[in-house]
This record gives sequence, structure tokens and C-alpha cells, in this order.
Amino acid sequence: MEGVNKPDPQVENKPDPQVEIVVDLDAIAHNVRILAEHAGDAAVMVVVKADGYNHGAAEVARAALAAGARELGTTTVSEAVELRAAGITAPILCWLNTSDTDYANAIAADIEIGVSALTQLEGVAKAARELGRTATVSLKVDTGLNRNGIPAAEFPEVLDLLGRLVAEETVRFRAIFSHLALADEPQHPVNDMQRERFLEFIATAKEHGLQPELVHLANSAAALTRPDLAFDMVRPGIAVYGLSPIPELSDFGLRPAMTFRARVLRVKRVAAGEGVSYGHEWTADRDTTVALVPAGYADGVPRLLGGRFSVALGGVRYPQIGRVCMDQIVVDLGENEAGVRAGDTAVLFGGEPGHPHAQEWADTLGTINYEIVCYPRGRVVRTHVGGDR
Ligand SMILES: Cc1ncc(COP(=O)(O)O)c(C=O)c1O
Repeated sequence: MEGVNKPDPQVENKPDPQVEIVVDLDAIAHNVRILAEHAGDAAVMVVVKADGYNHGAAEVARAALAAGARELGTTTVSEAVELRAAGITAPILCWLNTSDTDYANAIAADIEIGVSALTQLEGVAKAARELGRTATVSLKVDTGLNRNGIPAAEFPEVLDLLGRLVAEETVRFRAIFSHLALADEPQHPVNDMQRERFLEFIATAKEHGLQPELVHLANSAAALTRPDLAFDMVRPGIAVYGLSPIPELSDFGLRPAMTFRARVLRVKRVAAGEGVSYGHEWTADRDTTVALVPAGYADGVPRLLGGRFSVALGGVRYPQIGRVCMDQIVVDLGENEAGVRAGDTAVLFGGEPGHPHAQEWADTLGTINYEIVCYPRGRVVRTHVGGDR
């Protein structure tokens, strides 16, 4: 039957926070202070790429800057320009560029451009000349990660061009930086090799008459364990979000900023012998009570976790049972002694004592905590608490 009521074209679609991530900006500030302590005299650049590791780049940036971070790092120009659009005026470096990246946009927004190839520097120069403005450039050098970065063999020709561009004031030469391959193994000799190569790159630039204003190398793991790699600035990402870059070594006193949670949709009894969820992979061996939680793989709960994790309700951990579905999971409450009810909050992972930790998901799935915080998506509503809001 056709709808009896005509749909109202003015109807406003409000997000329904059945499933959400809550980001604690006080935890971000706490983590930045820990990193700053380890950094000593070095400044802290907070890495907010990938929307602040899925925590909200602008909110994290503001909280981190208020807590003493000096600069921000992103991968793309567009991520950096978005921060400017959010009113953030601190120095921002973006480092994953191509020869046809929109450098004009970066220069106009006063974004520092990380250059990893001669063609990129040519692209920056062209855009700066067209705009009639000076571009700020940092050279990303490859000291052994063999991913992005200028290889040693190509460095002299980049320096030749950079020298000419600096002389004509098309470019301001800000920094030389590089990225470590094995920082999560602090004593690995590759770290020392990269340090040596880094120093050689700096020396080569000086031989070309090019003195960077600063140099930087350390990510979270190095910032927390290798003070000898701090140079002028450290560039932490994951530790800012409260997750350890070396979980088997220490949590470094960091506080996880993200809580992934959902509201219990309903609670009901299941009789002994009944199967639960698709495929009946879990069967009740006794009469029990289950809670339906509206978070599934479309929201970022990996299907591979099915039957292998637990959820906190009122400080008690309950096992998730059966398959993870697209939109929901089921949790076994047993006799439900705590009296869990529809509307209660189920924490999938979070930062409070008693909460499941993102690291547990990483361990179960054989991955790293970085990937876990990037999972929540789709219908998940993100809110921020704490900070100077
Ligand atoms: C160039 C660069 N610097 C710093 C970081 C931050 O690394 P982490 O999150 O391990 O601290 C990253 C992240 O991949 C990076 O690509």
C-alpha cells in the first residue's frame, strides 16, 4: 500500500548514536605531555594524518597544541588544508606528495611541503612562481625504510635545484627529515645505521651550502626509547592517541583516548540447546541471558573477532558469542546478575580500567593497535570530551 502519510521533505536526518566512539581530549593532552618529557629540548610534532588516526584531526590538533605540541604532521595537502580551514595556525608539514599534487593550495595555506623527489620540487617551484609566493620545503630523505624519501643517489641533484630556488627566494628550506623502519625494536642496529645515514644527508646538504633550520627523525617508538634520535623535533603519532608503539615493552603511562561503545538494544533469555547468530556457531549449554549490541562489521567490528572477544558492561566483562554480523553482535550475560538492561552502554574497547583494550583486539587478530583504532567507521558517531572545549 502507498504510504498514507506523505513524506515530509523538510525532515532532518539526525545521526542516531547507537554506536559511537568517544575521544577523550584530556588523554591526548596527557600523552603529549609524556612525549614532551621524553623529548627533552626537542619540539613535538603531532602526527594527525588519516583524520588523526580516526580520532578527529582538528580536535586532536587543538588539544595537542594546547598541551605543548609545536607542530602538526599530515600525509596529504588536503588533510593539512582542512586543518587550516578549521582555524589552526600552527606549522603543518605534509609529506606524501606527487609531482602533480596541488602545491598552489599548500603554498597559499602556508603548509610546509615534504619533498621526496626532484619532480616534486619542480612542481613546488612552478606553483610558487605562479603564485608569486615563497614555498616552505622540507626534504624527506630515505635512510633505509626504502619507501618514500629521496635516495642518497638522487640527493645531489635535488640539492642543486633547491640551492637555486632558495637563492631566488622561491623556496624557504625548512628541514631535513626521515622515517625509521625498526623503531619498535629500539636496540636494532638498523636504527643506528639510519641515524648515520641521516647525518650523512645533513652533511651533504651543508656541503651544498644548504643548512636546514631543523632536522627530525623519531616516531613514537623512538621518541619514547631513543633520546639520541630526538634531534630538533620528534614526530609521534600512535603514542599521542594513548597506544603503545611497543606494547610488549611498556605502556609508557599513556592513556588510550578512544572508547568504542554501543547501547544495548535488548536483553533476552535463550534456552539451553539454542544456537545464537548466523551458522549457530555458538550453542547455549544452559539457559542463559543474552544482550544484543548494535555494532557489527559495517561499524568496524571485524568479523574475524567473532567469539574471540569480550565486551564491558558496568565494569563487568562478558564474552561475545557467535558470529559478528553486519550490524550487531550478541553477548552472553549468563544469569545477568548485574541486571544489564536495554539502553546500557557496552564498551568494545576503551581507556578506563576494566575496559577491553584495543591492544587485545590487535593481539587476537595478529595486527597492530594502529589498525584497530582505524576500524570504527560507517554509522559510528564520533564525539569528543575533555580539553578546552
Ligand atoms: C613520516 C612519519 N612520521 C611519523 C609518523 C608517526 O609514526 P608513529 O605513529 O609510529 O608514531 C609516521 C606514521 O606513519 C610517518 O609516516
